[in-house]
Amino acid sequence: MPVADRLEEVRLQVTELAQSSDSAQELMQQMVKLLHERMLKYNWVGFYMLEPGANPPVLVLGAFEGAMTPHTRIPLNEGICGAAAASGQTVVVDDVRKDPRYLACSLETKSEIVVPLFVHGEVVGELDIDSHFPAAFTLEHQDLVKYCAVLVGKKLEAADR
Ligand code: SME
Repeated sequence: MPVADRLEEVRLQVTELAQSSDSAQELMQQMVKLLHERMLKYNWVGFYMLEPGANPPVLVLGAFEGAMTPHTRIPLNEGICGAAAASGQTVVVDDVRKDPRYLACSLETKSEIVVPLFVHGEVVGELDIDSHFPAAFTLEHQDLVKYCAVLVGKKLEAADR
């Protein structure tokens, strides 16, 4: 299947998950499974959530698919993950060896994307994806991953009302 069709198919599938899931937690669990299974270059897919009330703030590993990572708690001044949460910006790293912020999860990882999740305009966590392929997160992939993060943010926001 051409990659554009695959991206479109997965976009529809995550949209359906967002509609059918009963909670944000369930959506996140189903989403990491789907992305990991269907996107061949998404070799580790997981959520990190800001621990409520933690001072200094810390990201805690949530739903994930892929090998267990040593990084289950990440302060905001560490890693690509910390940088994305601290800045509220998506971070795309085409070659993790060249980024001094990178915290290694697997020796096979070559590229990474981290997209923050927002609830009422505040960062509450992030979607992190690692690839064994360099520069895996092209603009089309960035669009899909950002869309996934928006769906989860909306689901969390709906639960917060
Ligand atoms: N590489 C991340 C750490 C998380 S693991 O990749 C799952 C980082 O640099 O923050």
